[in-house]
Amino acid sequence: MTVMQRKNILILKNICKSFNKKKVLSDFSYSFPSNGIIAIMGPSGCGKTTLLRIIAGLEKQDRGTIEKSSDTSISYAFQEDRLFPSISALKNVECCCDDSAKARELLEKVNLSEFCDYLPAELSGGMKQRVSLARALSVNADIILLDEAFKSQDKDTREMLYKVIKGESETRLIIMVTHDITEAENLASEIISL
Ligand SMILES: Nc1ncnc2c1ncn2[C@@H]1O[C@H](COP(=O)(O)OP(=O)(O)O)[C@@H](O)[C@H]1O
Ligand SMILES: [Mg+2]
Repeated sequence: MTVMQRKNILILKNICKSFNKKKVLSDFSYSFPSNGIIAIMGPSGCGKTTLLRIIAGLEKQDRGTIEKSSDTSISYAFQEDRLFPSISALKNVECCCDDSAKARELLEKVNLSEFCDYLPAELSGGMKQRVSLARALSVNADIILLDEAFKSQDKDTREMLYKVIKGESETRLIIMVTHDITEAENLASEIISL
């Protein structure tokens, strides 16, 4: 009998992180597959964003190890949209992928084709979040981190975005933070509760 061994792209072992002596992550360990969707859940302030920041290398853990290949690339849609305010939605995406056609196609996918030339200040919160999502997806990365990416969307828009994310997850890993258990159960193959 052959046993299929899962190929892990990212292995976290015993990650610990404190801020001002307050423990946020304590011996967190997890092995992430190379594709699919993994959801991270937990109450506000429990360390979800900190965990994504540590995975992205924006924050250093106090203890523990992160194993991944040196050529594994990571893209990140932050909890805040973090768009450049003085350039259009299209340029905000284009500046990450350097491919105007791809940027346009992604904005179309997130239902923003008519808003390519708008500045971030001319868009709603949910629209800005979708530009940020399109920007994260535009990068040819192996792992995509999504921090509450669907939070400001209405139901129909969320359903549409879920399809986009599911499609993307066939070939790369998506790690998403959410407070919505239905969303996590519908989308993710595994749910991490912090
Ligand atoms: N740079 C920082 N300095 C001090 N405390 C921080 C910092 N970043 C996060 N924290 C604290 O760590 C805890 C977890 O934060 P965070 O990871 O943003 O939570 P979550 O995303 O689960 O809501 C919070 O108590 C927060 O105040
Ligand atoms: Mg957070």
